[in-house]
Amino acid sequence: MSRLTRRHFLKTGMGMAATSLLTASQSPFAKGQSSGPAGMRVVASGNGIRATEKAMDLLRLGYDPLDAVIAGVTIVEEDPNETSVGYGGLPNEEGVVELDASVMHGPTHSSGAVAALRNIKTPSQVARLVMKRTDHCLLVGDGALKFALAHGFKEENLLTDKAREAWLRWKETLSDKDNWLPPKSEKLTSELKPYLSSYGTIACIALDDKGSLAGVTTTSGLSYKLPGRVGDSPIIGAGLYVDNEVGAAGSTGRGEANILNCGSYQVVAFMAQGFSPEEACLKTLERIARTTKLQPRLLNKEGRPDFELNFFALNKKGEFGSARMWSGGQYAVHDGKANNLRESAYLFKEIK
Ligand code: GLY
Repeated sequence: MSRLTRRHFLKTGMGMAATSLLTASQSPFAKGQSSGPAGMRVVASGNGIRATEKAMDLLRLGYDPLDAVIAGVTIVEEDPNETSVGYGGLPNEEGVVELDASVMHGPTHSSGAVAALRNIKTPSQVARLVMKRTDHCLLVGDGALKFALAHGFKEENLLTDKAREAWLRWKETLSDKDNWLPPKSEKLTSELKPYLSSYGTIACIALDDKGSLAGVTTTSGLSYKLPGRVGDSPIIGAGLYVDNEVGAAGSTGRGEANILNCGSYQVVAFMAQGFSPEEACLKTLERIARTTKLQPRLLNKEGRPDFELNFFALNKKGEFGSARMWSGGQYAVHDGKANNLRESAYLFKEIK
């Protein structure tokens, strides 16, 4: 605790003391209780400000919250300049883009997902079809592609020149003992450096004016991953979880750590105990920091997780929050009045 931030202590340490006395039946989110319409909200990762705008527009027109958030993230999936999602996403170690996505619909407590899907720009839309047109929760690889083609999706090359060049530079600089050489005249340019390693993703969750919740998480996953690697984004309970009587949570960042801790489910479970969305995100990160201590290769020299992980949460009352492992990030919120980026809470302060 001594190294936890003052902000965290104030926001969660004292908050926990107050709220942990709540019994399940006292919780405002106890099963079977509905707090009623709270006003429309859309919450997303920091790269989702266009998604929150679009989703809110559709909620106002009366769209189902799942259709609203999928329409929102589709903008990002189709953007060639967003290198962590959909078209333009960074590829696997062989230079092939493989996409993961999940959707979850609160009113019907149903979900759909695809993993390691190649050649289709909008995996979130395929995930919705898995939910609506199959009796399954998750399709992977070739099976997911065949399913998408059967539903009329078109195959396209998802590797943009920008992503290909970043991949090539990654490959050329992996080792000085192999046969790949970076261009002699060119160092790693600052332009390509940010793309040497990435877990980028977009998560977007929404509440409509009837109190219904839904969410989507979509990604190209860990850059330069082993072919076939599946991250947390298509795993219900890890990259996304929705309980229509409690709230919704989504995640971005290191998928393996999230899968090992059922992160989004955990956030919703903490909200069910009465914690605020921000407290629930921070408590989940504390748990992940604790379990990561059993994997020394993932720790920095102070014994803290040497990776980023972010959670975004929204409860049925319309309260929202976000927290990340390390300071310095933002998340997108449309609260029905304005669409803004806000500072995420954090567990550990990044020392520059
Ligand atoms: N959270 C994205 C991934 O790990 O694939």
